[in-house]
Amino acid sequence: MTLLLNPQHLAHNMRTVLVDIGPLVHLSGEGALSGLNLIDEGSLIALEKGIVIEGNQIVEIRNSEELIDEYGSPNHSLDELSKANMGNSAVVSLEGRSVIPGIVDSHSHLIWAGDRSREVRWKLNGMSYSEIASRGGGIVSTVNATRTSSNSELFDLGIERLKIAFKSGTTHIESKSGYGLDLETELRLLEVSKKLSHCVDLPSIDHTWLGAHAIPNGSTHKDYFESLISDQLPGICDQGIARSTDVFCEPGWFTVEESEDILRESRNAGLNLRLHIDEFTDGGGGELAAEMKVDSADHAHYTNDDARVMMNEAGVNTGFLPGTPYSMGEDWPDFNKMIVEDLVWSIASDFNPNNQILSIPFLSSLLVSRCSVDPLATLVCSTRNPAETTPHPSGLQHGRIEVGAIANLNILDSKNWESWCTRPSHSPFKGTMIEGKYISH
Ligand code: NIG
Ligand code: FE
Repeated sequence: MTLLLNPQHLAHNMRTVLVDIGPLVHLSGEGALSGLNLIDEGSLIALEKGIVIEGNQIVEIRNSEELIDEYGSPNHSLDELSKANMGNSAVVSLEGRSVIPGIVDSHSHLIWAGDRSREVRWKLNGMSYSEIASRGGGIVSTVNATRTSSNSELFDLGIERLKIAFKSGTTHIESKSGYGLDLETELRLLEVSKKLSHCVDLPSIDHTWLGAHAIPNGSTHKDYFESLISDQLPGICDQGIARSTDVFCEPGWFTVEESEDILRESRNAGLNLRLHIDEFTDGGGGELAAEMKVDSADHAHYTNDDARVMMNEAGVNTGFLPGTPYSMGEDWPDFNKMIVEDLVWSIASDFNPNNQILSIPFLSSLLVSRCSVDPLATLVCSTRNPAETTPHPSGLQHGRIEVGAIANLNILDSKNWESWCTRPSHSPFKGTMIEGKYISH
């Protein structure tokens, strides 16, 4: 993989025609899906299709034989497609392999330094998340390691993580700050995030400010909360990298009232809103998410049923983060209940020092094999649904394969689309096309 800084994500001119596709899980259509629409194969999957890609965009989806008639027989192999200098045009047979959209990971803590692996035994010994924090572990210990790391060290860590995510089919990822907890370091984390977003052949990035993640050592709760609004938020807005604000709204971290203040001030400053809610207890975050109509309210593990309905009616997308209960030794919410009740939801990695999972196919395998969720539902909740809260920087549609969308798609190493979540230990993909360029895995 060549890594070049490409500040403008310049579109290339190549035309690629993919033919002999097996099941094309295009997931096309407007908006997020819920209920039985999540598993409606007839409207979400097509057979015998081919795709024409010009530059970074999908320009045509048509019967494969018709495309061969128009553009000619396959003249390159998939492996050749990943090599540079192919000329201006290639027709490639996928030999029946299935294709799914590029995965959109709508919640990650991508950039931090340090190592909290010793906490695993503390967890096994029954220590809670807050007990680990009060013992010097948890978020604040990562903050110390992050503050003493240079931008270039943080950039290198970010690159390694983006490579892992990309190999697992992620073509776009949301990245939160939140391990700086002072203006200078929060700005540095966003600068590193921006620089990472300029690297080609890696997922594009949606930047979120999460200054309200914890109270740093040396500050009182009151002083830090006030500084978030008076100092950090204006500085973050001046810098202009963050698209959204997030708050860890949870008893013991930021109260519902504090979260509301930060969200209102952020909205007034022009930022979009996201929330961490109800990770450990039903603390009122769901009701706040609905009231504030945030784009995405995530974790939502203990949110009560009424609040779930209020969130849904307010247009809030619930982001379930199945890796976190996995890493904490806990069970998962009842995802099939969300389907029966017709709620809009997504799944995302929540990659962080306490939950180092970047593979959405792995998380999907958890939902399928441990929670009996249909693999088509998990796919929609990993692509089309999170794309609604996490737009692509080009302004083009993503998370679904349709004419006019960015050419982000995954080619499975199988003729069965279900294989996307049946290989939890390794990438199920032969390769990924990102912004019209095919990279072999
Ligand atoms: O979403 N819960 C808040 N933040 C992260 C975990 C952060 C950490 O433990 O370092 C989360 O799970
Ligand atoms: Fe998180």
